[in-house]
Amino acid sequence: MLMPPETFATARLTARKPRREDATTVFTAYASDPEATRYLTWKPYTEIAPLAEYLQARAEDWSKAGGLYAWMLCLKGTDVPVGSIGVTLEGNRALFGYVLGRAHWGRGYMTEALRALLDWTDAQPEIYRAWAFCDVDNPASARVMEKAGMVREGILRRWHIAPNLGPEPRDCIVCARVR
Ligand SMILES: CC(C)(COP(=O)(O)OP(=O)(O)OC[C@H]1O[C@@H](n2cnc3c(N)ncnc32)[C@H](O)[C@@H]1OP(=O)(O)O)[C@@H](O)C(=O)NCCC(=O)NCCS
Repeated sequence: MLMPPETFATARLTARKPRREDATTVFTAYASDPEATRYLTWKPYTEIAPLAEYLQARAEDWSKAGGLYAWMLCLKGTDVPVGSIGVTLEGNRALFGYVLGRAHWGRGYMTEALRALLDWTDAQPEIYRAWAFCDVDNPASARVMEKAGMVREGILRRWHIAPNLGPEPRDCIVCARVR
């Protein structure tokens, strides 16, 4: 079964598996922030305990065959998460998702992380499509996908429910790197 690397490094970041003990840091960095979570699949956390459960589950994913793998992103030289990136492996496809703490936006960090993982998917013969989607109102995320080497394919109409924006599925920009 295809397994991504448990750790990877870029020029300015190191990525490692999530830990339950990251909860307090992650809560403060982005998980409780309505702005950072606005377009995501989940509402901001208001307590640390359920976030610790969530991180524990993401840690355990690494020993399961579910195809979902998440990393915590730390600034190089630290072990302190500032964001997270994850991939879901589904047959010939790899779907990416990511979030970064607001304090670190706009410095190219997420582009750097996604680019490193696209280098990995590029090297996997069974992966033909590495892709991601974001809300039509989230141009920074679309820009990350394009800068990292994905190509904008179009709009997935009514694709994703962002619970912070209402109950209805929203239109999403879809980008992919295909071979
Ligand atoms: C989306 C996100 C991950 C970007 O991370 P980042 O490290 O700040 O991204 P980068 O610095 O690599 O690149 C951001 C790009 O978006 C651009 N950008 C930022 N805000 C923008 C806006 N409102 N409109 C258009 N472009 C915008 C930046 O200028 C930059 O492009 P440039 O290098 O050409 O100038 C971060 O903003 C975030 O975590 N947002 C909240 C969570 C989220 O929405 N995740 C994605 C879900 S699909």
